[in-house]
Amino acid sequence: MRLGPAPHFRGSFKLPGDKSISHRLALFGALAEGRTTIDNFSSAGDCASTVRCLRALGVDVLVQGARVVVEGRGFAGLKAPEGQLDAGNSGTTLRLLAGVLATCPFEATIAGDESLNRRPVERVAAPLRAMGALARSSDGRPPLTLRGGHLRAVDWSLPVASAQVKSAVLLAGLQAEGRTTVREPAASRDHTERLLPAFGVEVERERLAVSVEGGGGLRPVTMSVPGDVSSAAFLIVAGLILPDSEVRVEGVLLNPLRTAFLDVLRAMGAQLEMGLTAESPEPVGYVVARSSRLVGVSVGKEQVPALIDEVPALAVAAACAEGEFALSGAEELRVKESDRLSALREGLGALGADVEERPDGLRIRGGRPLAGAAVRSHGDHRIAMALAVASLKASGETTLEGAEAAAVSFPEFFGLLQSGREA
Ligand code: S3P
Repeated sequence: MRLGPAPHFRGSFKLPGDKSISHRLALFGALAEGRTTIDNFSSAGDCASTVRCLRALGVDVLVQGARVVVEGRGFAGLKAPEGQLDAGNSGTTLRLLAGVLATCPFEATIAGDESLNRRPVERVAAPLRAMGALARSSDGRPPLTLRGGHLRAVDWSLPVASAQVKSAVLLAGLQAEGRTTVREPAASRDHTERLLPAFGVEVERERLAVSVEGGGGLRPVTMSVPGDVSSAAFLIVAGLILPDSEVRVEGVLLNPLRTAFLDVLRAMGAQLEMGLTAESPEPVGYVVARSSRLVGVSVGKEQVPALIDEVPALAVAAACAEGEFALSGAEELRVKESDRLSALREGLGALGADVEERPDGLRIRGGRPLAGAAVRSHGDHRIAMALAVASLKASGETTLEGAEAAAVSFPEFFGLLQSGREA
């Protein structure tokens, strides 16, 4: 894809539903007894992977535009799939579903595309095995084969904060004997904890520990998904780094465990306005971002889980800021859809930014003029979108290889990028 500099970036946006929440609502709906109706369901390729896997497990899922209707028949309603379950590029599909499959009396294997099949799954297999399920990976990577049975509850401490692993263990815990507790070293996104109670499941939270009791059922819900805040991050950064710009995002998820990037941007000097319009089960509101003079800041380990997916967007802001931006404690980024530390160093570096790769982070000395170049997404949606936003600020033409990866989370991205520069 060929991209060029933009004079400004403007617009008012209402985005498709949050990807993390959409995965969970579809999955929990499948486990409930009755019809769950989800509005503003994510348009992400990843959520289509969750729907595809649920159908392969015998669940009726009707997709009518942004409305998804799931006919749940409880855990016991899931059927053995024919062949492997295909999670595509979606780590959330694979890991959350692993927790569900660990409760099923049949054997099922789940795998994904080349990128997903390189990602670690032992972190989810280990607790499921401790609960009594069979969980066999191929040298710590997918395909992952599961078979459940009589699970026993565990008290599991996660070595790395991960909402996917936390959720998988809690889902298996719903069918285990006793009370399952998951403890995290730092707080990761809490959508599972916030949404399960809407399905009638009691969830107990105490600081970094979450517990569920095994044996209860889920009742169906009707819910609308707030706009995807991780997608919004790219539009917000575009509005901040270009002159004469204003970006307004309405109806967007403002869960504090997802909006730490907004706190960092504000500390960088970003002109941001925010307000809440709803609080439960998830905080929702608006964000307005205007052209800003940004300065570099330091982001440390304790902040990382709450902005893990927004580092690519933040790195673009950092490249356009004065002074030094330092990110540490973010080695998890090496096992995302690509090695994001390396991909950002390569891509932003090619555009002329001064980016140093550290084992656990990045050091970006901002303010260098950017110039168009040939860059690659490495098949990673968030790298594709970050480099596209950076290209708006680069003189001359940028060619982006693998731009289509953006559809994994945000198929509308390039259309909106175009509308914002023309507005
Ligand atoms: C997600 C959790 C995070 C995040 C991913 C979505 C989720 O992954 O990076 O994009 O929906 O639970 P980890 O749980 O591996 O940190």
